[in-house]
Amino acid sequence: MKYMIAPLFVRPWTLNGISPHLIESHYEINYGGTVNRLNAIVEQLDGLDRSTTSPDVIHRLKRDEFSALNSILLHELYFSSIGGDGRAVPPDMTMALSRDFGSVNRWRDEFIGLAASLAATGGAGWVLLTFVPRDGRLINHVATDDRHTIAGGIPVLAIDMYEHAYHLDFGANCTAYIAAFMRNIDWEAVEQRTQNAAKVTPPPKLVQPEFADMPSVSVEDVQEMLKSGTRVQIIDARPRHYITKATEIMDGAVWRDPERIDDWAADLSKDDPVITFCVYGFHIGCQTAMALRDRGFDAKYMAGGHYGWKAKNGAIRLLET
Ligand SMILES: [Fe+2]
Repeated sequence: MKYMIAPLFVRPWTLNGISPHLIESHYEINYGGTVNRLNAIVEQLDGLDRSTTSPDVIHRLKRDEFSALNSILLHELYFSSIGGDGRAVPPDMTMALSRDFGSVNRWRDEFIGLAASLAATGGAGWVLLTFVPRDGRLINHVATDDRHTIAGGIPVLAIDMYEHAYHLDFGANCTAYIAAFMRNIDWEAVEQRTQNAAKVTPPPKLVQPEFADMPSVSVEDVQEMLKSGTRVQIIDARPRHYITKATEIMDGAVWRDPERIDDWAADLSKDDPVITFCVYGFHIGCQTAMALRDRGFDAKYMAGGHYGWKAKNGAIRLLET
């Protein structure tokens, strides 16, 4: 595909303390230059004979394509991040920043601090405010080159911390540049992007339709229960053929054969909740919890199973055979 130049979003003459000359140079030379470079890379890639080209050449071109494309996207975001008055944060945006950072001021301190830290260490790159649909929240982060963005994240505000973004107006005075950026943020545009990002459907989570009605607990819930001293009976219901080869078990759990529930169910108390789990949390743990519920126990299965527990650094003990 051929990448097109996006018209400049910001009106340079409206900026407070950032000159049109700086924006024009940034847009024409850095942004425009990268669009042209990306098109040259794409043309090169399209013209390659894949059967005779070394994988190294393709690797390098694909890496350069990724870097140039991200640079373009981030510059377009940068040029649409400024042009406002920087101070009046609209209500929805105030709510989102307060939800995820505690307050607008705390967000601001962190964002400015990250930009200053890049400058202080002689680094360059971007500081981004990004919405992560998986978690439904905003996060500030540093990108030390054009390829450092959050997978699946949608950046809604960007400050360009490469020298070309400020040197013409501010010389080496990054602090003045960051302050000028902050007082020119176009909050209406940032809010619009955040609202749009919040409508993005998060990636699908594991669904087991056959156990949709079965109550479950997370690994983190169980860790919290154990930490707080909640009385709970934890049953490791990994299949016998699996457990004979296993060397470890969750600390606090006892293994019970899921195929012989009738032999051991009566040993459980109906006064305390029961949590069951299997290897990964798919079937056996759920079926065991279901069978215990049928017998009148307050049983739930632990999503993620034994490996979910281990992945969260849950305590483990050696399994005695
Ligand atoms: Fe730039």
